[in-house]
Amino acid sequence: MRISRKLPTATCVLVAVGATLLVITLGCKPARSEAAPAPARHINSERLQGTLEKLSEFGRNPEGGVTRLGFSQVELDARAYVMGLMKEAALEIRVDPAGNIFGRRAGSEKLPALLFGSHIDSVPKGGAFDGSVGSLGAIEVIRALNDGHVKTRHPLEVVVWTNEEGPHFGVSALGSGVAAGSLGPEILDRKGEDGLTLADWLRRYGQDPAHLADARIARGSLAAVIELHIEQGPNLYETKVQIGIVQGIVGLKRWRCVATGVANHAGTTPMNRRKDALAAAARDLLVVREVVRAESGRQVGTVGYMKAEPGAANVIPGQVEFPVELRDLDAAKIERMWELIQQRFAKTDSEEGVETKCVVINDIAPALSDPSVQNAIREAARTAGLSTADLPSGAVHDAGEIARIAPMGMIFVPSRDGISHAPQEFSSWDDIANGTEVLYRTILRLDQSKAGRP
Ligand code: GLV
Ligand code: MN
Ligand code: MN
Repeated sequence: MRISRKLPTATCVLVAVGATLLVITLGCKPARSEAAPAPARHINSERLQGTLEKLSEFGRNPEGGVTRLGFSQVELDARAYVMGLMKEAALEIRVDPAGNIFGRRAGSEKLPALLFGSHIDSVPKGGAFDGSVGSLGAIEVIRALNDGHVKTRHPLEVVVWTNEEGPHFGVSALGSGVAAGSLGPEILDRKGEDGLTLADWLRRYGQDPAHLADARIARGSLAAVIELHIEQGPNLYETKVQIGIVQGIVGLKRWRCVATGVANHAGTTPMNRRKDALAAAARDLLVVREVVRAESGRQVGTVGYMKAEPGAANVIPGQVEFPVELRDLDAAKIERMWELIQQRFAKTDSEEGVETKCVVINDIAPALSDPSVQNAIREAARTAGLSTADLPSGAVHDAGEIARIAPMGMIFVPSRDGISHAPQEFSSWDDIANGTEVLYRTILRLDQSKAGRP
């Protein structure tokens, strides 16, 4: 599909890329003439690259990329490095009881803060750009403002959220979820594979878990929240668009399921007398895929692992743990799909002689971006001479949690070949610099808007 329409300053194009509708201003008539010099850049790309490369040493894997799980020693070391950068940028540092790191730069007026940043934890064998670009890009914005002696009306706060990925406790966007009030003390007893609870880890992060609720940020106490991030999908890269303006972030619901059968001798138990939990779980995995594929739209469903017990070649698995994760911009669709999946799991159970029980372990509602923040990003990109596309985010982000208490916007930069959560994850230094420049300009635009609101 390809539709052209005239806007006051540009001819814009709607293009369908895969299943995603992108509103692309690439090819719009540029506001400046061809001969005009490129707009000045405020941020320092080499300086930013230097810090990103240094951060990628924390948890670096031999095959490339990083393993820097939230609540691990290596993440703790990386946090110390990032706090050092914040200090050098003259930010006033505060760590809240959920371990979220805030670095504050004072404003000239008594106004709510503009908050921007991301996370520095990764998935196992993940990339070095997911989260890190937005976290260190935010600090670069502060350094650039310091270089230019720019005073803002609003206080500015750089944030590094705790444990955004959450693979080992099953909770994504943990720090921002606590700050937004979506998560509370009920998460503290969750145990990771190392046997330590979240409460234990928060103590290691120097926090008192009993005060977790103090990490809540009151609704209305932030002027806006902005997150710079790599797209983690192919849309910008394939269409050669420099900046993505995020329309909204998908919701995610995750269940931990346990299929229980009977462990027995693999050599002596006849095939028709088995209660094989892994056979049932394997059928369930395919059920998830079938149900999710049966609806039209961009919804996705994943079974990310299976842990079979006792896990020996000569024993029929007696128990299998596996997660089910469903994502979509429409929370009702997630519920509808889950209903169908449960009915099909029950059928598998009765046919395989197994019992499967699932409990919700993560529930993140979809979040829409604020139209005025989107406009600020659009204008920031236009003045920087960069092309833009409007698109949804299929990945979860901390900004989605904070959208429940403050106007939210996200800036995406292209991901090479659309690869993320893998060692090959890469965004070019130019694209990262573009995104950071847009973040810089967005912050200043929002700072100048009336009444401390975008
Ligand atoms: C986080 O990156 C997620 O979408 O799982
Ligand atoms: Mn991620
Ligand atoms: Mn991320």
